[in-house]
Amino acid sequence: MKYHKLFYALLCAATLSVLLCGCGEEKKKKLLMVTEATFPPYEYRDGKEIVGIDPDIVRELAKAANRELVIEDMSFDSIIAAVQSGKADIAASGITVTEDRKKKINFTVPYVTAQQVIIVQKTSTIQGAEDLKGKRIGVQHGTTGDSYVTEKLQQPERYQNGALAIRALLTGKLDAVVLDNEPARIHAAKSQTLKILPKPLVHEEYAFAISKHNKELLTILNQELMRMKNDGRLQAILDKHMNKSGNTAEKPSIPETLWEKWVDSVKLNFIDDDRYLYLAVGFLVTLEIAFCAVLLGVLIGFTVAVIRTTADRNGNLKILNALCKLYLTVIRGTPVVVQLLLIYFVIFGSMDVDKVLVAIIAFGINSGAYVAEIIRGGIDSIDNGQMEAARSLGLSYPQSMIRIILPQALKNVLPALGNEFIVLLKETSVSGYIALQDLTKGGDIIRSQTYDAFLPLIAVALIYLAVVMLFSALLTRLERRLKNNE
Ligand code: ARG
Repeated sequence: MKYHKLFYALLCAATLSVLLCGCGEEKKKKLLMVTEATFPPYEYRDGKEIVGIDPDIVRELAKAANRELVIEDMSFDSIIAAVQSGKADIAASGITVTEDRKKKINFTVPYVTAQQVIIVQKTSTIQGAEDLKGKRIGVQHGTTGDSYVTEKLQQPERYQNGALAIRALLTGKLDAVVLDNEPARIHAAKSQTLKILPKPLVHEEYAFAISKHNKELLTILNQELMRMKNDGRLQAILDKHMNKSGNTAEKPSIPETLWEKWVDSVKLNFIDDDRYLYLAVGFLVTLEIAFCAVLLGVLIGFTVAVIRTTADRNGNLKILNALCKLYLTVIRGTPVVVQLLLIYFVIFGSMDVDKVLVAIIAFGINSGAYVAEIIRGGIDSIDNGQMEAARSLGLSYPQSMIRIILPQALKNVLPALGNEFIVLLKETSVSGYIALQDLTKGGDIIRSQTYDAFLPLIAVALIYLAVVMLFSALLTRLERRLKNNE
């Protein structure tokens, strides 16, 4: 009966890992700024750092508010929600002031004016907004460019960021992209084949977004912003960034042979600016989430399975059983991304919890539901006579369950549990939705900087594949060992 030791070890490991992930919070007063850093010159990545006009201005604002600036990169369509829910203190992301947004958050005084412009291939026949009807138009999801095209023209093709839309335009998948003028200028300057149409679609103003509940911060920031306007600091920051090209993504050189092309691409995607680090760090985050979540899942799964079988066999634990059934229905009936977003934005809405911990909890709870049913199947597969024998030897019901039934059940369901881990590992790839930099998101960041879809995606796929293959091999060995032990 060595199996019950394995079970206890798993239980302790799960508890420990959850506890460990929960600590380590430091107590400094931070100013958490959220942004979407593929928007040069306002915000973009330079190596590992997020730089640009917005970080520079907000750094000054943070100083005035006596806070320590922390910048977080997330998808643009989550930014307003992050501020509204209190997850972040300030959104600084080239955000246009609009009436709709004003209903959800407060804006500071505007700091710059901008326009939505149309970018097309130099060879295009599109000359202005009037030619756009019926064309394939790309936008960044959730931006004012998106709303403009949707309301005034037609359904656009929505990309995660402007850089990806430009990439699609370059490869002929789109006829035009609608984007803010400064990022458009920088993207167009990087390729020899794009141009910006002279007539802008709309004029806009950018401001920073603050939660409606944080009037005090709004006042402080507004005062400092006005001071920066008056003493020339604001203009200096704008001048500094507007006159240089901004993003660090290289101009595509023109390699000759296929091999040169390949080497060039590897260099651009992984070596330059140490981009491989996005994959390396992301990989560790993915592993951490998947590993801890699977332990939590097994813990929940075991508990639920035992309650369900006990209730089914003995007819007690009625309320717990009903709760477990509800849990199984809800969790298995809704997508894991939605659960992750709900846990992050609603349940932990106004709490400052570590995102990795949120992901572990979300994926752990999700996985628990599937594990529960796997284990219940395992328990049912053990002949009832075993339980009777154990009881007649004087073991109590819980003792017989933990010492006799569960270890055997665990062995029977090992392949199915392994399968569950494999599914979970890949499912964590949606962590990017809460701005976690996991493996998939690491690849996304590289793509947005290098405009290359192929290599970053292949690299990400290969890493997942390698982990799954390694894990399957380990599992096969474990199964063989358990068989031999019989
Ligand atoms: N100004 C536009 C808006 O507010 C686009 C902003 C996009 N910003 C970004 N960092 N991607 O919708």
